[in-house]
Amino acid sequence: MEASGEPGRQWQEEVAAVVVVGSCMTDLVSLTSRLPKTGETIHGHKFFIGFGGKGANQCVQAARLGAKTSMVCKVGKDSFGNDYIENLKQNDISTEFAYQTQDAATGTASIIVNNEVKTVFNPAPAIANLDPRFYTLSDVFCCNETEAEILTGLTVSSPADAGKAAQVLLERGCKVVIVTLGAEGCVMLSQTEPVPKHIPTEKVKAVDTTGAGDSFVGALAFYLAYYPNLSLEEMLKRANFIAAVSVQAAGTQSSYPYKKDLPLDLF
Ligand SMILES: Nc1ncnc2c1ncn2[C@@H]1O[C@H](COP(=O)(O)OP(=O)(O)O)[C@@H](O)[C@H]1O
Ligand SMILES: *[C@@H]1O[C@H](CO)[C@@H](O)[C@H](O)[C@H]1NC(C)=O
Ligand SMILES: *[C@@H]1O[C@H](CO)[C@@H](O)[C@H](O)[C@H]1NC(C)=O
Repeated sequence: MEASGEPGRQWQEEVAAVVVVGSCMTDLVSLTSRLPKTGETIHGHKFFIGFGGKGANQCVQAARLGAKTSMVCKVGKDSFGNDYIENLKQNDISTEFAYQTQDAATGTASIIVNNEVKTVFNPAPAIANLDPRFYTLSDVFCCNETEAEILTGLTVSSPADAGKAAQVLLERGCKVVIVTLGAEGCVMLSQTEPVPKHIPTEKVKAVDTTGAGDSFVGALAFYLAYYPNLSLEEMLKRANFIAAVSVQAAGTQSSYPYKKDLPLDLF
């Protein structure tokens, strides 16, 4: 067997720099002119199957930027599960800890763990009474506007609001809090710099913003693992840029850029 010929295998003897614990979901997407009423059957004009799941999305984005990644997940022992494992391999992600089970997969949160060094926690979907240990145990707590609202009970619709919500989350014990704001970029706050800072992003023509947050978190994990000397602000500027590229194409993983398609000054 050729050691280099088989995607996925080559990482198994190497240490992954970005390890993602989270969901792998198969998206069954039907395009219809409207939603069916209860019990109604309607015609769709297009159907496709996509690879999704917030954990896997983040892992794929980090891998496409060049990170050595490993996905810790469980998929079904069925054709969708087999296809998903193959998709991870195609993206050069180690599947050493990608398990298959007869039981239905469950998943409520996705966590990125960069072993030993830094943990990034993405509370998706968010619940109001999140176990307080998630705040104290994560190095970087990254959520979007909706999640920040659910977690804090505050309204978040501007960078200033996001800063206030981030301060509440910081007080719960996070070392760094990032709130993403769609086309407004993100807001950051840390124990060492507790004044909220807004990091705007470029104006782009958004085609499909699905999975932008996962592209952003995957890119951030890549920079934390491979460019630890960059300031957090610089990492977030670059993650904003990469996520903005992803919103300019349709689909979730299909819109995530590879290193080769990005400006050299990002690396
Ligand atoms: N319309 C947009 N234009 C440019 N960048 C965007 C746009 N939407 C999202 N982004 C980028 O993606 C990141 C995450 O988007 P956001 O919508 O907050 O997350 P989620 O996908 O979790 O809802 C933003 O911080 C930004 O960098
Ligand atoms: C934030 O993420 C959640 C998933 O946790 C999603 O349902 C929601 O639409 C996102 N919010 C925004 C503003 O994109
Ligand atoms: C990061 O900075 C430290 C101290 O300034 C330096 O020793 C190290 O080589 C740098 N690492 C990288 C990857 O640039």
